Amino acid sequence: MELIDKIKEDLKNTLSERRYIHSLGVMEMAVELAKIYNVDEKKAELAGLLHDNAKEMTPEELLKYVDDNNIKISEVERINTKILHGKVGADIAKKKYGVSKEIQEAIEYHTTTNPNMTTLDKIVFVADKIELNRKSATYDIESERELAKKDLDGAVIFIINSNITSLIQKDKLINEESIQTRNKLMIERMKK
Ligand SMILES: [Fe+2]
Ligand SMILES: [Fe+2]
Repeated sequence: MELIDKIKEDLKNTLSERRYIHSLGVMEMAVELAKIYNVDEKKAELAGLLHDNAKEMTPEELLKYVDDNNIKISEVERINTKILHGKVGADIAKKKYGVSKEIQEAIEYHTTTNPNMTTLDKIVFVADKIELNRKSATYDIESERELAKKDLDGAVIFIINSNITSLIQKDKLINEESIQTRNKLMIERMKK
């Protein structure tokens, strides 16, 4: 059995149906964006499929995994444990399926973002928010899909803005990488 089929089978057995369908949607959207931005489609496929493999772990399970596996996390992540499914999922993907560093990083950064995101990382981050099963109450997802196909950095900035706005409205902590990534991408655009 090919690795990708083995992963699909595992995710089908461990994730809820809704999350499994979302994972397939992200996989497909990531491949579509990879074609547009000349990124290895196989890497986009694997990273997209695996991005939420740890999403249904409880906060206790995530924190236990982090401690058991010596994964470094910030104080924000310790409080807002939702973000942790990126780091934990990346570690699981590496240990369970031997995925490359690039795929691991794309899984990790899909929750936190990072100022040094590669195009693959950006693709997975954006595909997660615009895959075809996804709906958004806060923004027009159709125009976001159009934007992602023309201007990937613009789509990343748009999503970070929307996330930060919603975190402020909910009076929640904001992880520092989001601000750093937003600033970096915006400064790069100003210089163009
Ligand atoms: Fe996620
Ligand atoms: Fe997701």
